[in-house]
Amino acid sequence: MTTIFLPDIKATQQLGIILGENLNAGNVILLEGDLGAGKTTLVQGIGQGLGITESIVSPTFTLINEYTEGRIPLYHLDLYRLEPQEVTGLNLESYWEGIEVTPGIVAIEWAERMPYLPDSYLKVCLTHAENGTRQADITDVNCELSILSIYI
Ligand SMILES: Nc1ncnc2c1ncn2[C@@H]1O[C@H](COP(=O)(O)OP(=O)(O)O)[C@@H](O)[C@H]1O
Ligand SMILES: [Mg+2]
Repeated sequence: MTTIFLPDIKATQQLGIILGENLNAGNVILLEGDLGAGKTTLVQGIGQGLGITESIVSPTFTLINEYTEGRIPLYHLDLYRLEPQEVTGLNLESYWEGIEVTPGIVAIEWAERMPYLPDSYLKVCLTHAENGTRQADITDVNCELSILSIYI
């Protein structure tokens, strides 16, 4: 696990930008953390790193927003309003397996709600730290993303 201190919103956006510049089609980012922890902010950075100019907004009510304008597609999901059994019905694996959808980056807010996980993913747990700052604990499960080493 890699811990990254995020002193302000810019740091959260910058972490997202680095991810957006370096992730590959099929990579899944599981975002965990309370309301206001910075999950959507991080995805906005990922969009910027991918070259998406359209503004990225929380998909809390739409469940999924798709952005196809960047280097590779970005699929942004938010499971906040769902129970795990409802998540099962979404067939999320079609996104990370690239079945019937163009392979892209899959960023999932409230990934705690997922009843099953992909074989490989990057888990990013965002937590509130001192004085309104944030901390990101990143676990790379079978993605082998060397970019994270720049933070160590
Ligand atoms: N590292 C940080 N330090 C302080 N504030 C931050 C940081 N990262 C994000 N924020 C702020 O936290 C608020 C909530 O962010 P948001 O991304 O909407 O959270 P979530 O999607 O987890 O509910 C935003 O106002 C954002 O500006
Ligand atoms: Mg959000």
